[in-house]
Amino acid sequence: MSFRVQPAAPARPNRCQLFGPGSRPAIFEKMAAGAADVINLDLEDSVAPDDKAEARANIIAATHDIDWGGKYLSVRINGLDTPHWYRDVVDVLESASDSLAQIMIPKVGSAADVYAVDALVTAVEAAKGRTRPISLEVIIETAAGIAHVEEIAASSPRLQAMSLGAADFAASMGMQTTGIGGTQENYYMHRDGEKYWSDPWHWAQAAIVAACRTHGVLPVDGPFGDFSDDEGFRAQARRSATLGMVGKWAIHPKQVALANEVFTPSDEAVSEAREILAAMDEAQKSGAGAAVYKGRLVDIASVRQAEVIVRQAEMIEAG
Ligand code: COA
Ligand code: MG
Repeated sequence: MSFRVQPAAPARPNRCQLFGPGSRPAIFEKMAAGAADVINLDLEDSVAPDDKAEARANIIAATHDIDWGGKYLSVRINGLDTPHWYRDVVDVLESASDSLAQIMIPKVGSAADVYAVDALVTAVEAAKGRTRPISLEVIIETAAGIAHVEEIAASSPRLQAMSLGAADFAASMGMQTTGIGGTQENYYMHRDGEKYWSDPWHWAQAAIVAACRTHGVLPVDGPFGDFSDDEGFRAQARRSATLGMVGKWAIHPKQVALANEVFTPSDEAVSEAREILAAMDEAQKSGAGAAVYKGRLVDIASVRQAEVIVRQAEMIEAG
């Protein structure tokens, strides 16, 4: 560990972020009643330009009229390259209730993008005397976003989460695909007449996790478009979890249970982690720095790995 200790990410469950268009208020109650930890009401790409004003009004009303329970409620504003984003921030924050927790900024390309939103949020909060501070989350979904991922992760004390947005990312990178996340037909190795599919999102995900972990931000995997493909979703989510991400978006309610399943440490994983901690405790009592658990080496690094799993399970249970 360097002299500077790695900061902890916010201690709240973020296993699933369920999205819904702000222009479709009929589903808001269903979103609130579901099992997602985070709800993202959208003002951006799922809302047509002519519907933006009405969607803002729907969202404001929903913060007052709907019981969001323990859910972390976030609103996705429009990108800073549009004429819509300042009104999204000003209108929503001036009138929304304190059930609103977070603002999501799409297509972030630099720390300055976050700075601009932070400044506007800070001014509206002060002017309106809002008591609950608004947090921020960003989507990395452009070439600039991934190139500047570390400065973006460090951009604001309000920043709590960072997602990879596979579809816009692919477009910005010039990738030859129209799929939203998951396995890509042409991304394969070839040997002895067999194809072996690889993971085109791996590099961007690992870069996001490293930037987030350096600066105490939650790394999140974005959308998986084919909501009829449960096993495809599971495979993508399991890879993300293995890399250190804490959750994944749902763009259809049926994906919520899948995300919760993958990003909640299993009972077996938690018991094994506890057993490793106990084995190391015993070893340390007898003055040893390493021990053998089920035929494999465990040492102080294994303790840190096991603690990640136990902490995650305890936090989810408490949340
Ligand atoms: N959240 C909660 N409930 C939802 C929902 C959502 N995002 N989307 C649909 N539902 C409800 C429907 O109202 C329906 O409820 P019912 O059984 O009581 O009638 C049920 O879930 C099944 O819906 P279904 O008919 O399969 O889907 P749909 O055609 O109504 O909607 C989508 C499909 C993909 C258009 C819709 O899920 C959606 O808008 N998703 C989010 C899109 C988005 O926000 N994108 C931006 C981020 S990438
Ligand atoms: Mg996008």
